Amino acid sequence: MTESTERTEPGSYFVANYPPFSSWHAGAVPDVLAAFAAPPTAAPLGLYLHVPFCRKRCKFCYFRVYTDVAAADVERYSQALGREAELAAAERAVAGRALKYVYFGGGTPSFLSVKQLERLVERLHESFGWDDAEEVTFECEPGTLSEAKVRALRELGMTRISLGVENFDDAILEANGRAHLSAEIDRAWEWITAAGFPSTNVDLIAGMVGETDESWTRSVEKTLALGADSVTIYQMELPPNTVFVHDAKAAGTPTAVADWPTKRRWVGEAFERFLAAGYAISSGYTLVRDPARVQFRYRDMLWEGSDLVALGVASFGHLSGVHYQNAAHWDDYLAAVDAGRLPIVRGLVPSRRELLLREVVLGLKRGALDAGRLASKYGIDPLAEWSAQWDSLAAEGWLESRAPRPVLTRAGLLRVDALLHRFCE
Ligand SMILES: C[S@@+](CC[C@H](N)C(=O)[O-])C[C@H]1O[C@@H](n2cnc3c(N)ncnc32)[C@H](O)[C@@H]1O
Ligand code: SF4
Repeated sequence: MTESTERTEPGSYFVANYPPFSSWHAGAVPDVLAAFAAPPTAAPLGLYLHVPFCRKRCKFCYFRVYTDVAAADVERYSQALGREAELAAAERAVAGRALKYVYFGGGTPSFLSVKQLERLVERLHESFGWDDAEEVTFECEPGTLSEAKVRALRELGMTRISLGVENFDDAILEANGRAHLSAEIDRAWEWITAAGFPSTNVDLIAGMVGETDESWTRSVEKTLALGADSVTIYQMELPPNTVFVHDAKAAGTPTAVADWPTKRRWVGEAFERFLAAGYAISSGYTLVRDPARVQFRYRDMLWEGSDLVALGVASFGHLSGVHYQNAAHWDDYLAAVDAGRLPIVRGLVPSRRELLLREVVLGLKRGALDAGRLASKYGIDPLAEWSAQWDSLAAEGWLESRAPRPVLTRAGLLRVDALLHRFCE
């Protein structure tokens, strides 16, 4: 990065998939539908559900979310998710297969009422069942929880609760448009601990508007005091469709988010603090308290090429090596599901080499790559195939060791998404 791009300019930083979403297209929909209609592969199967509602739109958020939605529409949507599950589960590539993991993401899954969640889970069980699932994650925004809802989540079979804390400073939470304040975090955390989930995660963002060294240190200390099983720390990125970017453009001013070196320093300091307290690094964003016990099956299986049936508006899925996305607009999504059709609008059939590269790119986000496993799986050695990229990473100081297993330095891990573009073809 040059000095000027070290400022937090509007744009996307986080590499979520490969090949990038921009290369997915409507022409691949028949291939996606053919993958659904064909016999399954041996890959493990996961389920993702997108719940696109939030109490408020955070000023930094770029996800497909709706606020101020009528209660009837929320109900209609949660029924559509159940119906879409039936449609997907009836397809030959999915029918009768046991789910290995489930992920309720958003948006805010905890926006749904206990009644809606109970009905949705019951319906999902009729389509899939998840008795063999190793992990069922449920994302929550603190202010949407109640003691009864948290207890219900546990009873419904959620095994991993992820709480969007982001920061503990009320002025910072407000300035960034969060719907919750710190008192709601403390209250929610008591309920979560009392309910006894096998695994808990807390999300933080380094670089919220208004953050200072002091406020960041306080947030890190308070997070540590929660004693979560894992902590995920994102560096604030500002994709163009965020309120912060719109506001900065309208005012003709730069965005007010700290620059990348400051955000990396904050994450680096947090990593040091958590390591000193006994946590271990599990990716460029995540620390876990007990690596032998605490897993993140969704991330690991997905990054290693599992099948993922995606339900909900704008959801991203992956089946038998084919990528796909659902309709990104409410009306289109509901119309397709109401008509008994899978609401898929675009996709991509990657080559085998691209599937390998996807595993290289996503795997590096964990800080080290099992090159031997990939060489036996694909018959291509990633060390030889992308030797120029490993050379440049080593020359720039981002690679600690190269063979048999490339390992990033800590400095490399803290900027991992910025390093991945050199692999993209
Ligand atoms: C779907 S949200 C989690 C659940 C819930 N919606 C909430 O925010 O509490 C996923 C996470 O993405 C992260 N995130 C959202 N926008 C971000 C951005 N612009 N930069 C970095 N992280 C972001 C936040 O840490 C957030 O907790
Ligand atoms: S960060 Fe979470 S709560 Fe905020 S708008 Fe995005 S999805 Fe909703």
